[in-house]
Amino acid sequence: MALLIRGGRIVTATDDYTSDIYCQDETVTRIERGIDAKALPPGTEVIDATGKYVFPGFIDPHVHIHLPFMGTYAADDYESASKAALAGGTTTLIEMICPGPTDQPLAAFELWRSKAEPLAAVDYTFHMSVVRFEESVRDQFRRIVEAGVASFKVFLAYKGALNLSDEHLFAALKLAKDLGVIVTAHCENADAIDALQRALLAAGKTGPEWHGPSRPPVVEADGVHHLCTFAELLGTHVYIVHTSCDAAVREALAARYRGVNVWIESVIPHFLLDETYAERREFEGAKYVMSPPLRAKANQGVLWHGVKSRAISTIATDHAPFRFHGQKDMGKDAFTKIPNGIPSIQERVDLVHSYGVTAGRLDLQTMVDACSTQAARLFGLYPKKGAIQVGSDADLVVYDPAFRGTFSKECSYSNVDYNAYEGWERTGRPSVVTVRGQVQVRDGDFVGTIGRGEFLRREPTH
Ligand code: URP
Ligand code: ZN
Ligand code: ZN
Repeated sequence: MALLIRGGRIVTATDDYTSDIYCQDETVTRIERGIDAKALPPGTEVIDATGKYVFPGFIDPHVHIHLPFMGTYAADDYESASKAALAGGTTTLIEMICPGPTDQPLAAFELWRSKAEPLAAVDYTFHMSVVRFEESVRDQFRRIVEAGVASFKVFLAYKGALNLSDEHLFAALKLAKDLGVIVTAHCENADAIDALQRALLAAGKTGPEWHGPSRPPVVEADGVHHLCTFAELLGTHVYIVHTSCDAAVREALAARYRGVNVWIESVIPHFLLDETYAERREFEGAKYVMSPPLRAKANQGVLWHGVKSRAISTIATDHAPFRFHGQKDMGKDAFTKIPNGIPSIQERVDLVHSYGVTAGRLDLQTMVDACSTQAARLFGLYPKKGAIQVGSDADLVVYDPAFRGTFSKECSYSNVDYNAYEGWERTGRPSVVTVRGQVQVRDGDFVGTIGRGEFLRREPTH
């Protein structure tokens, strides 16, 4: 298997230049101008990238595919999620393993792996959630890390389901420090949310528009502060997922200035959708219920500036797909029963290009950094992933910035019955997407091989 990508403008987190890229088998082996196609092995596929960008494959460090949650299951499997991810230029996924409180961690790891292995067309790895911590599970987490999962996930939110008590949170962060793994964290104060939800429902405030008021910015900021306090005491490296608002960003940055090893992720819905979407009438708002909730518009500038200044490291999705009919409508009578999540796995990169780069908020290199390279660096995948270098995996996105279209459910591979960005204008599209040297997408269509995706073993890095 050999591939020549000719004449593209190669844009990485640090470079921007025009060259040819030659890939032998699964790896980038030459980056030179004017590679002679006639001198390459017979059967070498040649892709003309003139006038196009060539990016390293994008990495989404926060997705849910197999997800038992709020009385239902997320609607995608690895086949639909891979196709959607690849059509949008994402070649590596990091999925959250979210077991129930009584599940055994090792069994959960095996279950999540078994869901991915036969169906993945992207490469993948996991963050392992710690939803309870007792001495009896310590050894299981050690074995999961030895098996190549070098990051944990903790939830401060979702009382009675996924959230950890302080005792367990402290122990989980201590174990992570001892094992040298980073802890990703959903930071919202579960008890405050629980109390606010009860009060709202008791007052007859049951619609999706009350989801946001049940978890205001101060609840998220408090969660960030709390996590960072424990991280400061223990020296654990932490990564705040889906940071949605100014107050939470400020808490994380204040901790960073105190010397806490903290990184910030924000997710694409929070950059572009504001709280008014969740206030839409006729229960439409349910499509836009996620946690932390969509915020007041003023927060969006904070997030864009945060990425531009590299205060925010990554733009992920928190892809959590639930169908409007049959799933979101479980919460018709109480917003607390609407499964949380806004699917965006296919749209993320094109949205960042359309509304970040084309709109003048970010440059291309920052886009690559936030959507690929930072995740690779933070989670132990660099430079195999997140880079275009001799020796890197040949995960490449030939991107056509001249493409014009709209986002729509019709064009989406995800198993959901709506698109949160329906009808929005789109500037740019991946023309060709490769995973380890094999073309998986052409002009928006999946043409690849289900099951070709590989589990990525990662070493502890902290
Ligand atoms: O609304 C969200 N974020 N759903 C998925 C679960 C989580 O909190 O990440
Ligand atoms: Zn979360
Ligand atoms: Zn999530």
